[in-house]
Amino acid sequence: MLTSYEQDYRRSLEQPELFWSEQAKAIEWFAWPEKIMEKDANGVVRWFGGGKLNTAWLALDRHVEAGRGDQVALIYDSPVTNTVARITYRELTERVAKVAGGLLALDVVQGDRVIIYMPMVPEAVIAMLACARIGAVHSVVFGGFAARELAMRIDDASPRVILSASCGIEFQSVIAYKPLLDEAIRIAKHKPEACVVLQREMLEAPLIGSREHDWAEWEAAAKYAPWVALDALDPLYILYTSGTTGRPKGVLRDQGGHAVALNYSMAAIYGTDVGDVYWAASDVGWVVGHSYIVYGPLIKGCTTLLFEGKPVRTPDAGTFWRVLAEHRVKTFFVAPTAFRAIRKEDPHCELMRNHDLSALEYLFVAGERLDPPTYQWLNEVLEVPVIDHWWQTETGWPICSNMVGYGLVETRPGSPTFPVPGYDLKILDEDGKVVAAGQDGNVVVKEPLPPGSLPTVWGDHDRFVESYWTRYPGYYLTGDGGYRDEDGYVYIMGRVDDVMNVAGHRLSTGQMEEVVADHPAVAECAVVGIRDPDKGQVPLGLVLLKDGVNIEQSTLEEELIQMVRGDVGAFANFRKVCVVPRLPKTRSGKILRQVLRQMIDGDPYKVPSTIDDPAILEEVASVLLDLGVMEVNE
Ligand code: COA
Ligand code: AMP
Repeated sequence: MLTSYEQDYRRSLEQPELFWSEQAKAIEWFAWPEKIMEKDANGVVRWFGGGKLNTAWLALDRHVEAGRGDQVALIYDSPVTNTVARITYRELTERVAKVAGGLLALDVVQGDRVIIYMPMVPEAVIAMLACARIGAVHSVVFGGFAARELAMRIDDASPRVILSASCGIEFQSVIAYKPLLDEAIRIAKHKPEACVVLQREMLEAPLIGSREHDWAEWEAAAKYAPWVALDALDPLYILYTSGTTGRPKGVLRDQGGHAVALNYSMAAIYGTDVGDVYWAASDVGWVVGHSYIVYGPLIKGCTTLLFEGKPVRTPDAGTFWRVLAEHRVKTFFVAPTAFRAIRKEDPHCELMRNHDLSALEYLFVAGERLDPPTYQWLNEVLEVPVIDHWWQTETGWPICSNMVGYGLVETRPGSPTFPVPGYDLKILDEDGKVVAAGQDGNVVVKEPLPPGSLPTVWGDHDRFVESYWTRYPGYYLTGDGGYRDEDGYVYIMGRVDDVMNVAGHRLSTGQMEEVVADHPAVAECAVVGIRDPDKGQVPLGLVLLKDGVNIEQSTLEEELIQMVRGDVGAFANFRKVCVVPRLPKTRSGKILRQVLRQMIDGDPYKVPSTIDDPAILEEVASVLLDLGVMEVNE
């Protein structure tokens, strides 16, 4: 039962065990947890140890057993293939059990990893739930990642099996997945034992050898697999996210805390109930897709919507309105960048006119900062509350939000409102002191993190400690900067580390720098995420040439663009390169990317006292001014 936000927030911090055991009662357990909260061998607070459950059962079978088998579980709306399909809870449960059986037939056992590299088709959701049914650990890799990135994830997760598809569709283009998969397996040191490929009619992939299987035949031949009871602390999935280096971090999610947190969030944050239609317009490759296309809505018994299309040009900027009206969506969750794209093509929202949006009650946005102009525009064109909320792959569910379940409070542009129960949020200065209202600082969460948050980085616990817990001992470092106003509203202003956010996609500077540095003409480089009116941020490559190299700027730029597209993926939007004479660094050799970013964006910046040579900043500024990448700052 939800009482008041203030009361629950306070209780969640003062009596976390009591608060979370109440939330845990809202899901069904095969065995109630032995411990609500305790530290594991690594000293990390874990939730619901000894509790037995199965996340796929919670998301599927349970609803069928409760008589909701004929309710639509998943609507697949794909304007790029002119398809709308509705799959009931019963049908989805059966397909998941079959695919789980197919995995067992490939010798996948509990704890084995399965990589899912697929476009936005129902089989991607089925694959995730099939893993969950048998206790295999899935790792979904966003379909936009190129072979090298996929290979890194294959090596890190060492999957027994990879599930993929013959192609994805980007606007009018068909993107062949199989050559990318083949190349990734060729580069990777770890070789999976089997690959299963979903053949799509727009482009079939040749399958070679006994280790490659055709999905349809494989699924048809499989036996239904029963679900297994898992421990709350068993892993559900690994989702790689960009850290500050080129190597992605495998965020591990466990079973029990995740199910409890998502179930709580569906009512408390999103105001949804059984049977509501919920649409998160993201991709299954990102955390939003995991939590709010797949697990959250299905655990809650909603109808979830899987959309294979774009906000524009599939076929036009009215697609979102069409989908919202046709499927009577109640809660819609999307990244602001999608609305910037719509606003650009249809500023007065003419294409909304013929659609009945009366079912829509809430619009949630996250993934990047909701810039005030987009917020104002949304408020003008929509009659529903526009709710900004903030979270990360690491937490798996929102850290700050205006919470529908407790009754909405006044929204303030640029603010995701207040911390969600479970998150003891603080803004700290460089010395670890809480800053005064209105002052910027590092946004952190005091230990313990609530259920659902990551307990470790897959295979590298030291990195977990180093990345999140070392800067301020006892506090989880979010990597975001921000402040609170006099009334406690939280404002998230952007990353204070080397992570950037391009069209709602999280990327690291290091990831692109590794690729750029491989070019034979490049002696040294820095990639910084600079402000962009459409995509929020885009990467800018600053390179130093090797002595004696003679290459046209345009040739170098084109070659580097192709390298980043080929190694990271086109969605990185790496499109601009500038040759600079030197790079600003600290005396210990660390490139001052943040100062560069602030300088290029025209934001105030402080030159650190540790800078090696302040004149370098002026040299770089002068080159960027000449190239028109930067404007004169009055
Ligand atoms: N597979 C293959 N390629 C992909 C891809 C995918 N899944 N996603 C993007 N790309 C490609 C695009 O086709 C494009 O290729 P191009 O350079 O050859 O044209 C490139 O990556 C850049 O993509 P993007 O930044 O997405 O720009 P766009 O102009 O193609 O689309 C939007 C603009 C606004 C429609 C798109 O950015 C969008 O839908 N954003 C929302 C993202 C989102 O929902 N994030 C949620 C995270 S919570
Ligand atoms: P990801 O892990 O891909 O979900 O990206 C998380 C990052 O996106 C956060 O650390 C923020 O930098 C940014 N982000 C997500 N939601 C918001 C928001 N509502 N406001 C500001 N930044 C956001």
